[in-house]
Amino acid sequence: MPKFIVAFCCTWCAYPAADLAGSARMPYPPGVRIIRVMCSGMVHPDLVLRALEKGADGVMVVGCLPGGCHYRDGNDKARARMEMVAELMEDFGLDRRRLFVGWCSGAEADRFVDMVQEMSQRLAGLNTVSPGEG
Ligand code: FES
Repeated sequence: MPKFIVAFCCTWCAYPAADLAGSARMPYPPGVRIIRVMCSGMVHPDLVLRALEKGADGVMVVGCLPGGCHYRDGNDKARARMEMVAELMEDFGLDRRRLFVGWCSGAEADRFVDMVQEMSQRLAGLNTVSPGEG
């Protein structure tokens, strides 16, 4: 059974890369649900935790390459914020590897696919989420 991954993708780079991967029919794991956000910096920690609580095996936050955020430093904020979320996850007994943070340009469909595959492989080694377990 494919792992269920919620992928928050910024509208300027990550989403176009995912869209391009789809248009080019590049295969990637089927359990990915993409949620388009304006910027990776707007992904609130609560969204990540709620996705995991509601049954996602993992969460990805993907934005523009470093220095390339269309809102100047949203991806820097996302990186710092998601590091904090990973620590919170550990406090809740969740393996921090369930959270993936990455960057790509809008033209890098292959990079997007690589990140999804990496996350999927990472999750394959973990049990299904249940409270108190990683
Ligand atoms: Fe892409 Fe900010 S607009 S990370």
